Amino acid sequence: MEENHSLKTLTFSLLIVTFSLFSTLSLSTFAPTDSHLISCGSTVDTTVDGRRFISDSNPNSPLLSSTHTIPFTNQNPSPNSLQIYNTARIFKKPSKYALDVKEPGVHMVRLHFHPFVSSNLDLNDAQFHVLVNGYVVLSNFSVGKVRDLVVKEYFLWVDSDKIAINFVPAKKGNFGFVNAIEVISAPKDLIADVGFLVNGNKDDKFEGLTKQALETVHRINVGGPKVTPFNDTVWRTWIPDDGFFKSGDDLLKRMYFSARIHYKIGGASREVGPDFVYNTARVISSTNGSILNVNMTWEFPVDEGYKYLVRLHFCDIASISLGLIHFNVYVNGYLAYEDLDLSSITYMLASPFYADFVVVDDSSGVLSVSVGPSKKSRTYEVDGILNGVEIMKMNNSAGSLDGKICAGMVLKSWPRANIGVLVPFVAVVFLLLSLAMIMHWRTVGMRNPATWSKLPTEVPGVSLNHGNQHLPGKA
Ligand SMILES: *[C@@H]1O[C@H](CO)[C@@H](O)[C@H](O)[C@H]1NC(C)=O
Ligand SMILES: *[C@@H]1O[C@H](CO)[C@@H](O)[C@H](O)[C@H]1NC(C)=O
Ligand SMILES: *[C@@H]1O[C@H](CO)[C@@H](O)[C@H](O)[C@H]1NC(C)=O
Ligand SMILES: *[C@@H]1O[C@H](CO)[C@@H](O)[C@H](O)[C@H]1NC(C)=O
Ligand SMILES: *[C@@H]1O[C@H](CO)[C@@H](O)[C@H](O)[C@H]1NC(C)=O
Repeated sequence: MEENHSLKTLTFSLLIVTFSLFSTLSLSTFAPTDSHLISCGSTVDTTVDGRRFISDSNPNSPLLSSTHTIPFTNQNPSPNSLQIYNTARIFKKPSKYALDVKEPGVHMVRLHFHPFVSSNLDLNDAQFHVLVNGYVVLSNFSVGKVRDLVVKEYFLWVDSDKIAINFVPAKKGNFGFVNAIEVISAPKDLIADVGFLVNGNKDDKFEGLTKQALETVHRINVGGPKVTPFNDTVWRTWIPDDGFFKSGDDLLKRMYFSARIHYKIGGASREVGPDFVYNTARVISSTNGSILNVNMTWEFPVDEGYKYLVRLHFCDIASISLGLIHFNVYVNGYLAYEDLDLSSITYMLASPFYADFVVVDDSSGVLSVSVGPSKKSRTYEVDGILNGVEIMKMNNSAGSLDGKICAGMVLKSWPRANIGVLVPFVAVVFLLLSLAMIMHWRTVGMRNPATWSKLPTEVPGVSLNHGNQHLPGKA
């Protein structure tokens, strides 16, 4: 028994050396094919953490029909705020950005909203809808009382040669805004197409994940600190789990691991989760002759009526040797993964693995994740671990991530948004009416000359007399 143990440790050490060399050589930075970083309402480009956000005020800007938009600048920026958050573009009418797509596939879209007050206009008063390639991603959205940065992140399958982002004020007299936009090709293996469907039936699968529009609603670094875009391979933000972790048991530990994480042995690539996520965890540690029979549980608020993709990240940074850790994973109280044996998947310690689960919201407004001992768990060992959690909302059957109203209806609420369709339509109606009139006059001989009333023309809504109204850009 004892001999066996030291043999295992030796094998493990050799493996570590081999793979450490391997992973040093394979360190690479992700270079997306499509990458559009836009600083909205700014006249100059601005660099954040080495990433260049291009001004949308130049003639080649992807902003179309800029006539009803206003570039807006914070006159009193706080000294430590990022430059991209000191400007915004305001939309008084439906407006659109169209961004080139060179390579089809899943794209990440991030919209940055950082409200500020300037020249008597308060961006917190904005209320608007946002559509991305025909999906409603925000409806009646308002940053409201938060008065702080809101970054929305989406994953969308794109096989057209453009991504269209529409900003539509909630009603006439209202307005929309955005400070910055990111559109980036996602790494190829970031969104897998199949997930385990968690519904009490063990073998059910959900297929077609890559073709859903997804919104990141929670991205958590379990047991660790906040990870900023600067420290993430694909510029994501991970926040600590403190507000979501529910177990109060003192024997549950936070773990920190300072050595190298080994990517892509059985499990995840560096793009799926960074070192900063995998080298921290919470663990159930059975330190004596009895198994610590408790679950670690996290609870996440979610909107009702949607399906969610739940990605759980595991990396055994706690066991002293391979083959010792076995545990169960529960999502919304259902057994989602029985006797998870990380060693048999990754064949080494400190190597990441993730599992994707799909759940339908049970109308409780809370999505729960638990990890606890299984019947194969052992005494004196680690009997449960979790390193990271991502929860993504899936579009509903209306093609929306925010309500039951589809994109077509949102655009119809602003007839002028369809002016391209409306003008020929009105012209044809006009022509037919004229012909009918002429025929009528001919037959009845002008006894009752018709009085034409002017077709109603729309008076432009609010006039926001702030900022520079003279706009370059495409008409
Ligand atoms: C926005 O809110 C109004 C009033 O509650 C509602 O009638 C409308 O359908 C909503 N629009 C969208 C796109 O959700
Ligand atoms: C990135 O991580 C390093 C190491 O933990 C930390 O010192 C640094 O502050 C982080 N940078 C940012 C921008 O979060
Ligand atoms: C193991 O430790 C736990 C917590 O301290 C305690 O409740 C339990 O009685 C211990 N079991 C044994 C067999 O000593
Ligand atoms: C952990 O949670 C699951 C699902 O709610 C439950 O079935 C199981 O009994 C719990 N285990 C412990 C040790 O409480
Ligand atoms: C999401 O939208 C697509 C159409 O774009 C649709 O095929 C799919 O069924 C929707 N997803 C869900 C879960 O309803």
